[in-house]
Amino acid sequence: MKKQKKLVVGNWKMNPQSLEEAKKLATSVKRAMRGIKKTNVVLCPPFIYLSSLSSSAGNSFFLGAQNANYEALGPFTGEVSFSELSQFKVDYVILGHSERRKMGESDELINKKIRAVVGGGMTAIICVGESVRDINGDFYNFIKQQITSALKDVSKKLLDQIVIAYEPIWAIGASAPVSPAELCEMSIFIKKVLKDLCGAFSGGIKVIYGGDADKVNADILVRDGNVSGLLVGRESLRAKDFIEIIKLVDAI
Ligand code: PGA
Repeated sequence: MKKQKKLVVGNWKMNPQSLEEAKKLATSVKRAMRGIKKTNVVLCPPFIYLSSLSSSAGNSFFLGAQNANYEALGPFTGEVSFSELSQFKVDYVILGHSERRKMGESDELINKKIRAVVGGGMTAIICVGESVRDINGDFYNFIKQQITSALKDVSKKLLDQIVIAYEPIWAIGASAPVSPAELCEMSIFIKKVLKDLCGAFSGGIKVIYGGDADKVNADILVRDGNVSGLLVGRESLRAKDFIEIIKLVDAI
């Protein structure tokens, strides 16, 4: 069987400050991609930069959005729809990020967005993660429930357009990630949940990790944590460090 490519996603969040900086960052990544063979890279800028960056996307890196409305169009002030995104070569959409769940997005709403995004031919990067780890391991049930609800009524034929990003909330923006051993356990658990839910179709779903991933821990997290890649926040805004992370993951 052909080995699946790894995945490194840069979640720029509400950065950078100017279009000029955004273009500079994307150009640096694009140049570095010449030597990258086994890893797909996705840059997820704010909506307003997508149009300008779409001309560079495709051959070297992919473009992703940080959210999408599940309606195709209509009276939804301030929203951008999944179908509007597709004209800017957007191939991925991050959904269910904890920062958006905190703003009030429910499991039900996230599921609607996931179905719209994969139905529209894009890949949904679904973020799941607990806010605290309890001694009894109840957080495992919480992750299972988040995944089960995210994948409700998603067509089995579209499951290769799903990526699960395990992002423990306590590690996002923090100064330490999950340990590789804990990540490995969680990755095995998530793959088991996916197998129970989707059977043989679960094989097409990648599991990646996010939360304080950087150039120091990237290699060990992916290698020993048994994941297919990383979702990177802060470090994706520093071209040199992000490129270093891409190279480390590609060398695994
Ligand atoms: P971080 O953010 O890498 O800055 O911790 C990750 C994320 O929120 O996706």
